[in-house]
Amino acid sequence: MASPLRFDGRVVLVTGAGGGLGRAYALAFAERGASVVVNDIGGDVKGDGKSSLAADKVVEEIRRKGGKAVASYDTVEAGEKIVKTALDAFGRIDIVVNNAGILRDRSFARTSDEDWDLIHRVHLRGSFQVTRAAWDHMKKQNYGRIIMTSSASGIYGNFGQANYSAAKLGLLGLSNTLAIEGRKSNIHCNTIAPAAGSRMTETVLPEDILEGLKPDYVAPLVLWLCHESCDENGSLFEVGAGWIGKLRWQRTVGAIVRQRNQPMTPEAVRANWAKICDFDNTSTPQSVQDSTGSMIGVLSKIDSGGVSTNRTSHAASTTTSGFDEAIGYQLPPFYSAYTELEAIMYALGVGASVKDPKDLKFVYEGSSDFSCLPTFAVVLAQKSVMSGDLGAVPGLSINLSKVLHGEQYLELYKPLPRTGKLRSEARVADVLDKGSGSVILIDVYSYYEKELICYNQFSIFVVGSGGFGGKQSSDKVKETAAIPNRPPDAVLTDTSSHDQAALYRLSGDWNPLHIDPDFANLAGFDKPILHGLCTFGFSARHVLKQFADNDVSRFKAIKVRFAKPVYPGQTLQTEMWKEGNRIHFQTKIQGSRDIVISNAYVDLVPTSGASDISTTSEDGELQSTLVFKEIGRRLKDVGHKVVKKVNAVFEWHITKGRNVAAKWTIDLKSGSGEAYQGPARGSADTTIIISDEDFMEVVQGKLDPQKAFFSGRLKARGNIMLSQKLQMILKDYAKL
Ligand code: NAI
Repeated sequence: MASPLRFDGRVVLVTGAGGGLGRAYALAFAERGASVVVNDIGGDVKGDGKSSLAADKVVEEIRRKGGKAVASYDTVEAGEKIVKTALDAFGRIDIVVNNAGILRDRSFARTSDEDWDLIHRVHLRGSFQVTRAAWDHMKKQNYGRIIMTSSASGIYGNFGQANYSAAKLGLLGLSNTLAIEGRKSNIHCNTIAPAAGSRMTETVLPEDILEGLKPDYVAPLVLWLCHESCDENGSLFEVGAGWIGKLRWQRTVGAIVRQRNQPMTPEAVRANWAKICDFDNTSTPQSVQDSTGSMIGVLSKIDSGGVSTNRTSHAASTTTSGFDEAIGYQLPPFYSAYTELEAIMYALGVGASVKDPKDLKFVYEGSSDFSCLPTFAVVLAQKSVMSGDLGAVPGLSINLSKVLHGEQYLELYKPLPRTGKLRSEARVADVLDKGSGSVILIDVYSYYEKELICYNQFSIFVVGSGGFGGKQSSDKVKETAAIPNRPPDAVLTDTSSHDQAALYRLSGDWNPLHIDPDFANLAGFDKPILHGLCTFGFSARHVLKQFADNDVSRFKAIKVRFAKPVYPGQTLQTEMWKEGNRIHFQTKIQGSRDIVISNAYVDLVPTSGASDISTTSEDGELQSTLVFKEIGRRLKDVGHKVVKKVNAVFEWHITKGRNVAAKWTIDLKSGSGEAYQGPARGSADTTIIISDEDFMEVVQGKLDPQKAFFSGRLKARGNIMLSQKLQMILKDYAKL
């Protein structure tokens, strides 16, 4: 069994410890070896009167049980005096529990100045005075634990408690800042919002409920938060009746309601109200940086949205500079949740059928080996591109009716789970000038829980927007590959149904072009056409069936170019060539020479089962591997900027259990930066040792690297100061 949490040698000051919650804390700390200062003014619940009795009784109780305690009768507003009592009696101060409190409940209109001021003086100013008096001692000894006592009334508001709720939430603000200022001195500050039976609540809660809300059901949280082994800092907890929950802020993705050089109007706010308040897509900001960072992002989006003002060559430069602004633009993250229902609907949409017993695993959730078709991952990621946000990319004034899906690349890092929720992050990787139109490359990274599960590249062709003098190719492009010059090794055919597009669109592509004859006519087609991605799904199925026996774990990547439209009811013929683990293919309409998908390929995982030799041979299932690869990939785009900012080489030792399972180097010193497996080729400035699990927590922003360092979860050698730059590297460039 884990060892009990002890406080031997620690000195604890509990304010308002003469009764209620404070008494329970004082007794519990003393019982576990702490020396306790029992502070209480001994007044009534409204803050009137004073007496030494309350504190004395608790001190006596502690001493009777063999514990160490002294009394303090001062008001918390005299913080210095109370802390002096601790220093005089025990020589130090390690823990402060700000608990003293009173009530002056009145409806807001009837709240007098005195009601307001007294509540603020006892709760907010008192906690400030006591904590400030202890602060320097804690800093000098490089150790301190502080508790602030807030209340549900402050967090949520409560009738008749305007004064109290304002002061109580003020304590949370105080705690949040102390957590930041104290961190480097190993001083942690947390806030609790308790619910307990005490004289404060005895008039408002029925007796049987009070019985279940013992102060003893709150004290253990306070003890844990104040223990030296607890890393928690800057957090808020609700606690009562034996239950504890942690709170955090949640923020909607929101909406930008202003355009460059345009006034911001209340009408624009009204028009965007639903989006501003939509909690379906949210983030959980955790710092002022998270808050202001996104505002600064908004400013740059707005600034880059309009026509450039200081260009000399107006006509040419406005278009290219607009695209320059668009490149690298990150769309808001997008979540796609799915169950077996969506996976089956997709499979039926791309022609999987019970006619073929081997397809049953894609269309029957009761199959023992039920699987999602690998290409379903495109549909899940596509939503991030189709959600309309593309229209908001600065400098990309796209006419969506002129948009064609040109090419598609998908790389799947592991099979899709049968149900799940993917978080996709899309960004504009590049914009190319193809003369008759422009090509917008959109990279989408999709994550399942903590793991990067797939990467998609959508190539969007915008008819008529080319000729702006931009570049024609880009190293970001996932290239197609020419088919071998020999007859195909295998050919599979499938006749699509007349309802194929009607069925496929249920997977989320609602473009009327695929179902509405009038709309199709307007767009220049005789009748509605099949979705390009539907044909893509047919072809991928053919390759998987022919060369991987429908084993989805053997699917690694696919690249296609959409060459011509297909009409529902036509028979698709996939011609395939095997070259090692790459299956080249093209798809034709049977009976015609029309190639509808050209220069395509599927990469399969070798039958040995290893998905990527370099990833798995040494380090098994390390999650960090994907992150390092991802960092490497992103450095190709932004490496030069990061090198300028960081100028250091980091060597990583990723541990699993007690062993180093992998070594990686992130070189942010030479050239435009690089991430590679293995120790640093030259010398490393900083070597970081961290477990695979903790590494993932750090990149997800759940574990602060500095905190990990102080608590020993992250070890650093060499220039330790450089590790402060890690958050920047991992947060900005891993985005996992
Ligand atoms: P309580 O009234 O039993 O204890 C508060 C203690 O603080 C009293 O012993 C009182 O004499 C002392 N005190 C008051 N003013 C003082 C001053 N100026 N200097 C020193 N001591 C002073 O109340 P309870 O319920 O134990 O409350 C403890 C803390 O928890 C308070 O801050 C309260 O606002 C907070 N709280 C309690 C909740 C509950 O359900 N009991 C709910 C939410 C918050």
